[in-house]
Amino acid sequence: MTPDHGELLYEGKAKRVFASADPDRVLVEFKNDATAFNAQKKAQLDDKGRLNCQISARLFELLEREGVPTHYCGLAGETWMLVRRVEIIPLEVVLRNTATGSLCRQTPIAEGTAIDPALLDLYYKDDALGDPLLTEARVQLLGVADPARLSAIEQLARRVNAVLLPFFEGIDLQLVDFKLELGLASDGTLLLADEISPDTCRLWDRGNSNAEDRILDKDRFRKDLGGVMEAYGEVLKRVQGTCPNPRNCL
Ligand code: TMP
Ligand code: ASP
Repeated sequence: MTPDHGELLYEGKAKRVFASADPDRVLVEFKNDATAFNAQKKAQLDDKGRLNCQISARLFELLEREGVPTHYCGLAGETWMLVRRVEIIPLEVVLRNTATGSLCRQTPIAEGTAIDPALLDLYYKDDALGDPLLTEARVQLLGVADPARLSAIEQLARRVNAVLLPFFEGIDLQLVDFKLELGLASDGTLLLADEISPDTCRLWDRGNSNAEDRILDKDRFRKDLGGVMEAYGEVLKRVQGTCPNPRNCL
């Protein structure tokens, strides 16, 4: 079902953003397009949009209940979400609880090493530049966020981790790492935005010790492991089992 929407405002790799009747809110459509390695690898994955939308809605509601301000207003269909209109800050904020991925490719840290407190990495959200890793000095130089805003971003990201890490543990999933995007609402409030889903998190099945079989996130697509949607479906099943049904805006 497609909700009544206005003009297309923005199209990204995984979502489209449309105007809604309320100028302060926009409608986000989650697409089935999957990309990796800065869109060098592409596929259509049937049902991905629905799964990511449904998982994200429940996680945003959980975070809101725990006092984390998010852009989420409610669901507007199986693959649609109504959210506050924000200006996205061009940072990809990555929290790492367990070493893997680019951290292990770029440093001698061994795969699977626990990281506590979590490592927070900042990347510049710019596909043309390949989302490069930033330093705090580069964030200042680029004028992306002043020190006070950067500190607020870090605090919010760590609160998200403090909520999600035990939540996922409770459904037998290890939150290895994840990426967040934040935005500024029209009144200047900093809000968690974008999505939180197996596209943007690494989730390992704690009950499975096999290094490949335990992967329940987009790494299945990145590494050609197969069973991508089955894995996302398993994540939704576990999240659904613990979170109430998300509110509907229509
Ligand atoms: P990385 O190990 O490749 O740096 O990824 C860290 C986390 O960020 C992992 O959970 C996947 C997520 N991520 C995105 O959501 N989008 C991206 O473009 C990249 C590179 C990573
Ligand atoms: N999100 C990035 C892309 O679509 C990379 C990734 O998630 O691996 O290309």
